[in-house]
Amino acid sequence: AVQLDAVVMGSRIVCLEQTASTNGDAFRLAEQGAAEGTVVLADTQSGGKGRMGRVWSSPPGVNLYCSIILRPAIMPYEAPQLTFLSAVAVARSIERISAIVPEIKWPNDVLIKGQKVAGLLNEMSAETDAVNFVILGIGVNLNMTAGQFPDDLRHPATSILLESGRPVGRAGFCAIMLNELDRLYADFRTHGFGPVREEWQRRCNAHGRELSVSDGGSEVVRGMFAGIDGSGALLVSGADGAISKILSGDVRVL
Ligand code: BTN
Repeated sequence: AVQLDAVVMGSRIVCLEQTASTNGDAFRLAEQGAAEGTVVLADTQSGGKGRMGRVWSSPPGVNLYCSIILRPAIMPYEAPQLTFLSAVAVARSIERISAIVPEIKWPNDVLIKGQKVAGLLNEMSAETDAVNFVILGIGVNLNMTAGQFPDDLRHPATSILLESGRPVGRAGFCAIMLNELDRLYADFRTHGFGPVREEWQRRCNAHGRELSVSDGGSEVVRGMFAGIDGSGALLVSGADGAISKILSGDVRVL
């Protein structure tokens, strides 16, 4: 059995049968002063939040819906670094329980064979020059089967069960992920963003590849993947060697 041996993550664990959104719950707890490492888990969410105001489908019994309160001493513009941290933690955890090597897609999707298996949504409360707290929202499709995906998905999605053929224990996966996140966060606090960035870049689906970034359907940049910067921007090096910083857009690996 897997043991939770984290120092920070899981300092307090709130398990709910049902809620609107674990991110919303964690945000409220953080406002009330909840400690760093507080984790909110739910079996199902009636209003699971995705990026760009989208809905995160959250059927009961099959997946992981998890939100974690962090109180890092960083500037607001550095907060995206923590999404990269959670993407790496999820990728490592999938690798450990299934031997599948997932890929990460900028800005923050975790994919197996090009299909989305996890989504990350950070929310933060900050002053101009300091972060009060960050909520790391993590949704992982563990045991969802074909009929349980919504019909209106923008991108193809999958689950670890569908890819590995083996059901994944939710508590065990959660413990592995919190342990990984704990190690990454400790490293982040002593060494900064460098090591996480390196691992994220190595795991990125565009690593060493040419890519095309489009916005609203039309291409804005085409070039070689050149990594990410400390504010979460994607760096693309053009044919003339100039580096473009991409803040938002859809990335396609060519
Ligand atoms: C995305 O890819 O659009 C991000 C999805 C994030 C989903 C998780 S599930 C747990 C947490 N609570 C929420 O309401 N959203 C995040």
